[in-house]
Amino acid sequence: MEYLRIKGQQKINGTIRINGAKNAAVAILPAALLTEGIVKIDNLPKITDIDKLVEILKALGAKVSFSEEHLNIDSSGVDNFSPPPSLVNKFRASYYLMGVLLGRFGQVKIPMPGGCNLGPRPIDQHIKGFTALGAKVELEDGLVKIKAKNLKGAHIYLDVVSVGATINIMLAAVRAEGKTIIENAAKEPEIVDVANFLNAMGAQVIGTGTDVIKIQGVPELGHAEHTVIPDRIEAGTFMIAAAATKGEALVAEVIPKHLDPIIAKLKEVGAHLEVGPDWVRVKGNNMLFPADVKTFPYPGFPTDLQAPMMVLLTQAPGTSLITENVFEGRFRHVDELKKMGARIKLGGRTAIIDGGHELVSAPVRAMDLRGGAAFIIAGLISRGETVLAGVEHIDRGYEHIEKRFKQLGVSVERNTISNEIFPGK
Ligand code: UD1
Repeated sequence: MEYLRIKGQQKINGTIRINGAKNAAVAILPAALLTEGIVKIDNLPKITDIDKLVEILKALGAKVSFSEEHLNIDSSGVDNFSPPPSLVNKFRASYYLMGVLLGRFGQVKIPMPGGCNLGPRPIDQHIKGFTALGAKVELEDGLVKIKAKNLKGAHIYLDVVSVGATINIMLAAVRAEGKTIIENAAKEPEIVDVANFLNAMGAQVIGTGTDVIKIQGVPELGHAEHTVIPDRIEAGTFMIAAAATKGEALVAEVIPKHLDPIIAKLKEVGAHLEVGPDWVRVKGNNMLFPADVKTFPYPGFPTDLQAPMMVLLTQAPGTSLITENVFEGRFRHVDELKKMGARIKLGGRTAIIDGGHELVSAPVRAMDLRGGAAFIIAGLISRGETVLAGVEHIDRGYEHIEKRFKQLGVSVERNTISNEIFPGK
C-alpha cells in the first residue's frame, strides 16, 4: 500500500503551473467517441482517472496514442457499446459513456457508476434526460441498458442542478434529430469546455455557462483539436494550502475568473491576494479570521474545496461554519481531522469549527479525492509527521501530488507500507 509522509509545520513557498481540468477531461475523452474522425486533445492531466479512460476507449476499439503533449484518439473503428464492467465499475465519470455511446450507437450497456463515496449520488436526472430524448432505460443483471430507435431532441428541465446530468444529456443530444433545450442546467466552466470541444467537432451547442443550453442535433461530427482548460480545483487546493501554511504561492496558468469564489473567501479569511491575467498570488497572513462558507453549484463556492477549506478554518481563531449544500454526506474527512486535534461539530449539513488550535500529526486515511488533499494541507500545518493512507484516491485527480508540493518548497514523500499501521481500516 502506498502512503504519503508529510512533514509538519512547513510553509508553502514557490510557483506552480496548473494542469488541465480533471472534470472537463473526463468528459472530453469519452466525447471523442461521438465522431468517426480523429481528435487531438492537449493539456490533459496525468491522473489515474485519465489512464482508466484511455484503457476504456482502447477496450471499445479506439486507437489512442500520445504525440508530444497531445493525446490522439481515432474512434473510427469503435463498434462496441458495452464497455468492460471491470474497467468502469469503480469509476464515477464512466457515466459519460452512457451519453456518448447512446449518441453514437443508439444504445449502451454499462454498470452503474462507482467512484468517490460522497453519500448517495443518484443518476435519475441523467436518466430523465435520456428518456426525454426517446431512449428506453432498463436495469438488467446489475447493468444499465439504454436503447433508442431514434434519438429526438426534447425540452428537458433538470430538477437538480447537476454537472454530470447537464454534460451527459448534452453528449447524447449533439447527434439527436432536432433541437434539445436543457433548462436549469449547471454552469460550471468544465461544461463550457466540453461544449467548446463538441462545437470544434461540428456540434451546435449554445448557452453553456448559463442555465439554458440549446443543442441543435447534427447527423455527424468531424475532426477536432482542443486544449483542456486549467483545473480550478487543483489551483484552489494550492491557494488554500498557501493560506493555511501562512506561506506564499504563485499559482500560474489559470483562468482567474473561474477562481472568483475561492479568491473571495480567502480574502475574507485574511490572506493577501494579487490577481494577474493568468495567475493568482496568495500570501498567507499570520492573523486568520473565521468565515461562513456555503457550498453551491458554480459560481458558488465549490464543494470540491470544502474539505481543504475546513482545514484552513481550523487555524482561524473563533467559530467558522461550513454548510455543504451540494452533496449529502460529504463530511467523511471530519473524523480524521478530529484525530489530528481539529475541533469540529457536525449538525446536519453544517460543520461548526472551533478554530485557532494547533493540529497534531496522526495516521489518517483519505476516503475520497478532495478529502485526501485536505489531509495533506492538515499534515503540512500540524506538529509532527503525518502518515496518510488512501493515496489512490488522491492520484485519481491530482498529478504526482508529492512532486507538486515539492515544487512549492515543502516535503511530502511517497512510500510503500504494510496495512498494519492503520488498524481497523
Ligand atoms: C461533478 C464533479 C464533482 C463535483 C460535483 C459538484 C465530475 C466528474 N465530478 O460530480 O467533482 O463535486 O460535480 O460540483 O465532474 N444529483 C441527483 N440526481 C442526478 C445527478 C445529481 O440528485 O441525476 C445530485 C447529487 O446527488 C448531488 C447534486 O445533484 O447532490 C450535484 O451532483 P452533480 O453536479 O451531478 O455531481 P457530479 O456530476 O456527480
